[in-house]
Amino acid sequence: MRIGVFCSGGDAQGMNACVRAVVRAGLTAGHEVVGIRRGYQGILDEDFFLNRASEKLMTLRSVSDWSRQGGTFLRSSRSDEFRSEAGLLKAAAVLAKHGIDALLPIGGDGTLHGAVDLARHWPGQIVGCPGTIDNDLEGTDETIGFSTAVQTAVEAVDKIRDTAESHERMFVIEVMGRHSGYIAVYTALAAAAETVCIPETPTNIAQIVTDLKSLKERGKSSIMMIVAEGDEEGGAEQLNQQLLAAGCPFSTRVVVLGHLQRGGRPTPEDRLLASQLGTWAVEALIDNQTGVMAGRVGGEPRFTPFAATYARHKPIPAKLLELVETLAH
Ligand code: F6P
Repeated sequence: MRIGVFCSGGDAQGMNACVRAVVRAGLTAGHEVVGIRRGYQGILDEDFFLNRASEKLMTLRSVSDWSRQGGTFLRSSRSDEFRSEAGLLKAAAVLAKHGIDALLPIGGDGTLHGAVDLARHWPGQIVGCPGTIDNDLEGTDETIGFSTAVQTAVEAVDKIRDTAESHERMFVIEVMGRHSGYIAVYTALAAAAETVCIPETPTNIAQIVTDLKSLKERGKSSIMMIVAEGDEEGGAEQLNQQLLAAGCPFSTRVVVLGHLQRGGRPTPEDRLLASQLGTWAVEALIDNQTGVMAGRVGGEPRFTPFAATYARHKPIPAKLLELVETLAH
């Protein structure tokens, strides 16, 4: 079998480790692996990773030392052209031309959605891996990149806390998460933030200001407020304006962590997860599965139909949210 592996959508730390696992597991089992560069756009452009001999088949050595590296050596993209019917048909033709039997996309909801669309035009097998810092896919406890993104955000909030304490200020800190509060909630808990605003729960500015006043009366001198970029009231800048207008008792500053959260070396947890998922996805292809994402639930492999990974909003455990509140005293 010839497997085409690629990364698509927002990059995530651990994608390289996942590709390494796919290549090593695939070749060891006697299959061929082709690295497709720049995601779905790379299929359309016939943009393949070339090995040292300038051939398009990846070798065991092609992925040496990849597991500890951030970003994605295969590059990534979000392709508008691929999403059109003409793009899907062209992609199917390119895959047939290069003798690719199976695809192994690594990415988030858009990537898995793309796989469903492609399957309408292309008869090959597709098994995906969840690669997104957002941790917003069902069918896996965590997605590749989430652990590292949280680690980076927590380190940043710890540093901000130092200066916040010195100046007795409140910081409104925006983390990534277009539709999901996972990064925000994990960061808030790990960095002992006083409050968190996420798209999954209503943000009540008047209530937050009341809570801040009571925290100030109880002697709190610095406040960390973590805001998911997708909060329904807006990002950190908008929330800060609303807080000030509502009588926030602290002097405030805004920090947007942004793409910092997508960079850096993957944590051991992300490397391990990526290695397991890449291997399990190859095993699933060998097992003749298709249309599923390889995930890890309770430490065990779980294969979930693509549509079920993104159809429902992955809920944030209510107990984690309660914990932020309980501990913010
Ligand atoms: O989906 C991952 C993610 O990092 C989101 O958290 C964020 O909203 C988005 O990608 C940013 O995308 P881009 O890098 O294309 O601006």
